[in-house]
Amino acid sequence: MKTLKYYFERAQAEKFAIPQFNFSDFSQMKAIVNKSAELKSPIILGTSEGESKFFGLQEAVALRDVLRKKTGLPIFLNLDHGKSFEYLKQAMDAGYDMVHFDGSKLPLEENIKITKEVKKHAKWKGILIEGEVGKLGTDSSTLYSEKFEIKEEDLTKPEEAQKFVKETKVDLLAISMGNFHGIEISGIDPNLRLDVLKAAREKVPDVLFVLHGGSGTPEEDIKEAIKLGIVKININTELRLAFSGNLRRYLKDNLEEITPYKFLPDAINSVEKVVESKIKLFDSANKIY
Ligand code: 13P
Repeated sequence: MKTLKYYFERAQAEKFAIPQFNFSDFSQMKAIVNKSAELKSPIILGTSEGESKFFGLQEAVALRDVLRKKTGLPIFLNLDHGKSFEYLKQAMDAGYDMVHFDGSKLPLEENIKITKEVKKHAKWKGILIEGEVGKLGTDSSTLYSEKFEIKEEDLTKPEEAQKFVKETKVDLLAISMGNFHGIEISGIDPNLRLDVLKAAREKVPDVLFVLHGGSGTPEEDIKEAIKLGIVKININTELRLAFSGNLRRYLKDNLEEITPYKFLPDAINSVEKVVESKIKLFDSANKIY
């Protein structure tokens, strides 16, 4: 199997993005992997600290290996939004392929210091590191009933991105560019600030750029962001909404159904539909060779 770095470099050269789909239980994992295998898309399975504590770091790694073997698909694992070196070390030692240290709420110097520590541990294991500069706020699963306001001062400043990348030597960089975790109740979020992405890319051309908060982002903005160099897009809220919404409806309509393998397939199917639409939008199908 080729490395994750190979797929990122290929995504950059051919202008597509590798999806990161977050999960916290095996039904979601199954849905993500089934559809990605059918469409032959390389994928990153993401777990936040909370998701991975529920699922288990070792369990996630073991199942990644089983599913890789069974499907032949390049499946990679990322520890998303890790908040401490200690937890990211546990994920790296368990066998994650990449880890994301989110020090974006810390002062820049502190963010740099811990990211460097993570990078040092990752280096000898060949693990990729994602860092973050600029404030994103908000959590996946949040549904905003009012327009989500992004403060100008929270957007990533090109000079800070440059200093951060130069000192930490991260492989990937997540920035604040009008994106946010969660989704507006309308289902469509405000437009991205592509000018912020462009300015950051000009200052730091040698790092791979990541888009967080992919749920609800207008499709034309996603396409434009990929053209401007985004190689990984994270999706969580839309998957959670599909899974829980479907399950809730199904169980309400079938009060007597208590057999998981009978009531879960519908929810799995609804997650598959989201996965399919994102793979098509990110143009990552048929890119596994
Ligand atoms: P959404 O929940 O908005 O899709 O964001 C996911 C994400 O960025 C995880 O890191």
